Amino acid sequence: MTVKTIKTTPYSDQKPGTSGLRKRVSVFRQPNYVENFIQSIFDSLEGVEGRTLVIGGDGRFYNDVAIQKAIRIAAANGFGRALVGRGGLLSTPAASHLIRHNRALGGLVLSASHNPGGPEGDFGIKYNVGNGGPAPEKITEAVFARSQAIDSYKTLDTPDIDLHSLGAQQVGAMVVEVVDPVADYAALMQTLFDFDAIRGLFASGFRMTFDAMHAVTGPYAHAIFEDLLGAPRGTVVNGVPSPTFNDGHPDPNLVYCKEMHDLLMTPEGPDFGAASDGDGDRNLIIGRNRFVTPSDSLAILAANAHLAPGYKDGIAGIARSMPTSAAADRVAEKLGVELHETPTGWKFFGNLLDAGRVTICGEESAGTGSNHVREKDGLWAVLLWLNILAVRRQGVDEIVRDHWRTYGRNYYTRHDYEEVETEVANRLVEDLRARLPALPGSVFEDDMQVAYADDFAYHDPVDGSSSARQGIRIGFVDGSRIVLRLSGTGTVGATLRLYLERYEAADGRHDLDTQLALGSLVEIAETLAGIRARTGRDAPSVIT
Ligand code: G6P
Ligand code: ZN
Repeated sequence: MTVKTIKTTPYSDQKPGTSGLRKRVSVFRQPNYVENFIQSIFDSLEGVEGRTLVIGGDGRFYNDVAIQKAIRIAAANGFGRALVGRGGLLSTPAASHLIRHNRALGGLVLSASHNPGGPEGDFGIKYNVGNGGPAPEKITEAVFARSQAIDSYKTLDTPDIDLHSLGAQQVGAMVVEVVDPVADYAALMQTLFDFDAIRGLFASGFRMTFDAMHAVTGPYAHAIFEDLLGAPRGTVVNGVPSPTFNDGHPDPNLVYCKEMHDLLMTPEGPDFGAASDGDGDRNLIIGRNRFVTPSDSLAILAANAHLAPGYKDGIAGIARSMPTSAAADRVAEKLGVELHETPTGWKFFGNLLDAGRVTICGEESAGTGSNHVREKDGLWAVLLWLNILAVRRQGVDEIVRDHWRTYGRNYYTRHDYEEVETEVANRLVEDLRARLPALPGSVFEDDMQVAYADDFAYHDPVDGSSSARQGIRIGFVDGSRIVLRLSGTGTVGATLRLYLERYEAADGRHDLDTQLALGSLVEIAETLAGIRARTGRDAPSVIT
């Protein structure tokens, strides 16, 4: 089989963002767009020859087309073996596990996460390295640099492989193994959690609803919750992956899972509701009459992890992204373990996990996970919650309230302003950045005094690298915080994210309405940054 070298010209926009290259499907459909990017990835790697590559995605529109291209380019570049999920499906955490389990060189994860799919929707390609986690910036920068100079890519003239038949097929000199996307992942989960205890919980009449949002977790959830754990059929809803996510928005938040939320707020509703996003790495947790914020969920999971067999000896430390609330910090303090504050993006947890400095990580953007893989993991979070509920025999609301009575409550909200003109958003951030040095000491309404104001810079304690300008932090003397940053995952215009947090002590008031509790911070943020004034919006596009 002769390798074909095809001439090409660079695209100027192949710069990976927070989570790989994410664009409209129409952008990926341009001639050689996918080929250029994948060849740029392979050109940036060392020692590809004979190694294993994992390939899979969330099943969204264009997944199958991109996978066939990726297989040919991988074979032409000398990979020895490709492991591909049946039907082209692999959840992001399952892909991470397969990479680690098979000592692969890395993997291509095809997804635009929680963004809508379909011909008018989004697509994405992300490269994960041998530890199973997203490529560090050193590699993504090399990929971008290569994409700016690329003049050819390598491929083969072979027919499409059959993505639906399990087993080995040959593409040139490379073996393609189509694997069950669920089996190895489900086996891993059984090593971490007490499946007998959770089975007992379901057998006692506990009712759960899991919304797979027509995305990749459907087959995983059916297998794990219904087949292995004995939850009744129908526990998993929207469980068949669809290339367009049934024209929905596979983002497990209170906007797109409103129906489930409302159901959980009724007395006849189930005991527990959960959901995961397009590629299965995010999670939403709702108990009867209690939505658990991702920041609280991280803190509660960390405080109770020892109740699950996989973490029975305790955790080494906790890491959270900078905009995530400080609720987890209090747990780390009590446990006497390390707490790390990292920039937004799961890739920043990789070194800490590899070095054994932390066991559990989380982000306000509905991501929680542990050292079992190097991605956040939606179903893992749901299973850890179930394990805790099974052992404690208390409801979600009781556990949350008990947590606040022990550690205090970090009232927390995020206000997003989407599709803001890039210029306007950039200038707004720059102007606020310029004001930061003068802010400490200033007093705003309700006697709120600024304790510090900076643009977050991260110094990785493991590899010594630095990442500057990761978001503006304005901290107040009472522990409250305003954080402002630009999203790194949007595909149209700019998204401004405003994060607000206020701490209420263990013996304080824990039953205030969140938006009211944070009202004065919202106004201070407006005084400082002028988001509403400058964007002409009178309210955020999304409040979470
Ligand atoms: C992706 C990443 C996360 C990140 C999130 C929000 O899901 O995997 O690590 O927290 O995007 O990023 P953004 O830049 O849009 O706030
Ligand atoms: Zn995702």
